[in-house]
Amino acid sequence: MRIDVVSIFPEYLAALDLSLIGRARRDGILDVRVHDLREFAHDRHRTVDDSPFGGGAGMVMKPEPWAGALDAVVASGPAADAAVPHLVVPGPGGVPFSQALARSLAGEPWLAFACGRYEGIDERVYEHAAARMPVTVVSLGDYVLNGGEVAVLAMVEAIGRLLPGVIGNAQSLVEESHEDGLLEYPVYTRPASWDDAGTVREVPAVLLSGDHGAIAAWRHRQRLERTAQRRPDLLPVSATTGALADLDVRPATPADAAELLVLQRACWVREGLEAAGRWVVPPLAEEHDDVVRGLVEWTTLAVRARAADGAPGRLVASVRARRHPDDATRWEVGRLMVAPDLQGRGLGRALLALAESLAPAEVTGFRLTTGVLEEGNQRFYRRAGYRVVVGAGTPAGAVDLAKRRP
Ligand code: ADE
Repeated sequence: MRIDVVSIFPEYLAALDLSLIGRARRDGILDVRVHDLREFAHDRHRTVDDSPFGGGAGMVMKPEPWAGALDAVVASGPAADAAVPHLVVPGPGGVPFSQALARSLAGEPWLAFACGRYEGIDERVYEHAAARMPVTVVSLGDYVLNGGEVAVLAMVEAIGRLLPGVIGNAQSLVEESHEDGLLEYPVYTRPASWDDAGTVREVPAVLLSGDHGAIAAWRHRQRLERTAQRRPDLLPVSATTGALADLDVRPATPADAAELLVLQRACWVREGLEAAGRWVVPPLAEEHDDVVRGLVEWTTLAVRARAADGAPGRLVASVRARRHPDDATRWEVGRLMVAPDLQGRGLGRALLALAESLAPAEVTGFRLTTGVLEEGNQRFYRRAGYRVVVGAGTPAGAVDLAKRRP
């Protein structure tokens, strides 16, 4: 891939000689060419800025040096074909830079970056450029840098490392934050038990167990929990829109167990009365310790109403899900419950969809169990695409339902 960068501080880009990106340049994977905008200024002082028409603070970058620099970059392209670069202009007013955009830009043969400074570049430069090549204004985030150079360093690194041959172990590209919409799980190395000046810090036991299924399940749960805590905006769309939009949705912890127990007893008491002792209704038979144990074995989402100040309030709904202990392709969903006063608003439906969307990629089907007497529940699950399956081992009073992953 060829990359041209135009800047009034070409030395800023010296960092692109270091580390993996530097090696990719030396290996011929990346052809990075840095140009000094001042070379394209027309006066003896090599002026590249002037005051803004209409008044206002600061200076604006003049159009002529930019047009000259961009034309020179285009003209330096391969003579044989009419190739032009995709011009990326870093700026806080651009489209957000993301892993998806990095991946898309990594697929282009030629990128050019125009580093603005001061209050920005004369708008006509964008028109000049757009008449010659694709142009995208890209922002690193909702904050203001002094210029585009730092943003270019970040973008070239994010894009360059996706090129074949830049990262030795391609699998590490797959297993990292943002690649599949979730944040990365925590990592540990030796020593397994670290005496940190008197405080002993242990590596989670599951990672030392050698049980690859358990390790994969633990890592997946960690990714969900981190994402919910640090970046709830990345949780599947169903968590942040529709019926769940105004609620606080996050993985339950043992501190939620007492309220979960109260809610599940409330939600299953009618079924218990109808069963009238003919069979056990598990959510009614459980005690606090059972609920805490369930939080270890399942990823449980606790949904809370928000108080006036936005803080999470009372528990109003919950669902839990996990990979089947013996079948990694099966995703089990259970304990879907909604407080009585919030039923009938689509909350259960949205939570079910959310629990399904948390399933890892290798899952091909969903499973759940409901009460044989709970015809309303069975109708609800049928509307969501589930069908009754006659399973060996379905407990008395229960009905198993399954759905293929769409
Ligand atoms: N230049 C100034 N601020 C920027 C930002 N947030 N992202 C990209 N380029 C910038």
